[in-house]
Amino acid sequence: MRIFIYPGSFDPMTNGHVDIIRRASGLCDLLIVAILSNRHKKTAFSADERVEMVQAALKNKKGLEVVRFDGLLVDLYRLKQASAVVRGLRSESDYRFEAEMAAANKILLPEYETCLLPSRIDLSFTSSSIVREVAAFGGNISRMVPKPIADFVAQRLSEKQDMPAEHIDLKGD
Ligand code: PNS
Repeated sequence: MRIFIYPGSFDPMTNGHVDIIRRASGLCDLLIVAILSNRHKKTAFSADERVEMVQAALKNKKGLEVVRFDGLLVDLYRLKQASAVVRGLRSESDYRFEAEMAAANKILLPEYETCLLPSRIDLSFTSSSIVREVAAFGGNISRMVPKPIADFVAQRLSEKQDMPAEHIDLKGD
């Protein structure tokens, strides 16, 4: 069984992530969507919220498993007996980071492989940080994220509208 891992912060998941998941799942038997829940990395949404959003967006999709992980990706790779890690490439600037991460992980675990998928051109400017920025100013994110995520973000903003401005800032890191 060919198992791929698609790791990320998913803060929040975007339509670009969903497209990579759709394409990558056609290349393997099981695609594990792995959500980083690193206590040391500042995110706009908590790990529980990010997992909830990803599960809602991927509901009923076959051949997928959603997990959260902390620590090193190579440990998850070994644990899950994966054949490759999938990452989306939106631009040349993404490439630099991805090449460094692939090289570091290969040093840590020689059987580690990386599969880089170029983003669909119409999604190559969609990012979690843009989504957070637009949402924080009350803009419409419905064409950037799956519907359950747009609903979740809107709900979260409405729950926090009585709080001081610093607590409703979704811009994060
Ligand atoms: O969506 P992101 O933030 O670009 O995803 C980055 C992620 C989660 C894939 C990366 O930070 C990661 O794998 N973190 C776990 C720690 C690790 O193994 N780092 C790689 C060694 S360079």
